Amino acid sequence: MALLNWKDEYSVNIKEIDDQHKKLVGMINELHEAMVQKKAKEVLGSVLAKLVSYTATHFANEERLMQGNGYPEFAEHKEKHEKMTAKVIALQKDWQAGKTTLGIEVSQFLKDWLDKHILGTDRKYAPFLNSKGIS
Ligand code: FEO
Repeated sequence: MALLNWKDEYSVNIKEIDDQHKKLVGMINELHEAMVQKKAKEVLGSVLAKLVSYTATHFANEERLMQGNGYPEFAEHKEKHEKMTAKVIALQKDWQAGKTTLGIEVSQFLKDWLDKHILGTDRKYAPFLNSKGIS
């Protein structure tokens, strides 16, 4: 069973971003599944690296849309992205160095973060960007 499921209330009415969020949901599920099945370190490392990299791509896309359209809460939103990026990179480094394990609490943390971020932060820009004709 998937750890996280896409739900309509996640939609920001911007296809490009909804598609990216759906991909992130899929990647968190993939990481979770790899952890549950106790996959080899190389497999886990590769799934985690893919997630870290795609998250950076997604954040950059979202920031380009917000900044390019003069979204007033751009700076606060970008700061949240930076904090999350730093956290995930630190986690990845600690895991690679053998200082921490990748357990269910990690996928749970990622799931909770994405859920809260989309509903509480991303959805805030939706009416603004939609009003600029972005959908
Ligand atoms: Fe969809 Fe602000 O990340």
